[in-house]
Amino acid sequence: MTLRAIASVRPRVSAWVRLGSLGAVLVLVPLTPKPALSQEPDPVRAARWMDDLMWGHGHVGGPFALIDHTGRRRTDADFRGKLLIVYFGYTTCPDVCPTDLIQISLAIDKLGTAGENIQPLFVSLDPERDTPSVLARYVSKFHRRLIGLTGTREQVRAVADSYKAYYAKYVPPGGAVDVIDHTGFIYLVGRDGQYMGFFPPGTSADRLLEIIRPYLARH
Ligand code: NI
Repeated sequence: MTLRAIASVRPRVSAWVRLGSLGAVLVLVPLTPKPALSQEPDPVRAARWMDDLMWGHGHVGGPFALIDHTGRRRTDADFRGKLLIVYFGYTTCPDVCPTDLIQISLAIDKLGTAGENIQPLFVSLDPERDTPSVLARYVSKFHRRLIGLTGTREQVRAVADSYKAYYAKYVPPGGAVDVIDHTGFIYLVGRDGQYMGFFPPGTSADRLLEIIRPYLARH
């Protein structure tokens, strides 16, 4: 991808994203920090990363090495030549993850054969529970080409941090099991592996296509 292509795509994505940003802030950043067991929720960091993404501050994305839902080691380099849609979540997420994965899958299917140039990736933020076999069952519910990725806690943390994807696993007050607070951005990565931009959670398949389709047509 040329620099010009990045420059022409990024403003469109971010202009769009700003419209959804207020809703994203309200949904994703806890207003009061909750008691933590395994990880301390950190709304300040969540807000700072959201700002960074919105205004294009700092570097986003980069190399990763994880395990896919078949147990195979996968790196970012495996996906060169494909437009990547990268989504961070966890398989027991009650609401936001499934909703976004359905829209991503719909968007790819609406593109027909051109959709084969897109590789959707689901990176689990819950590697303790989301083993490859758990991921395999999960991704198969959404799209035949959706690849689930997991790894050690440290590997997952490193990839999420590189995408400024905030998450914290904790037991909510009065709750019995831990949950994961996480941002639900849908990241777009170019065929050369360079981060292009993001969509807010709740983006519809049609809005995804508005941005992605012209980009695909140029190649
Ligand atoms: Ni989720």
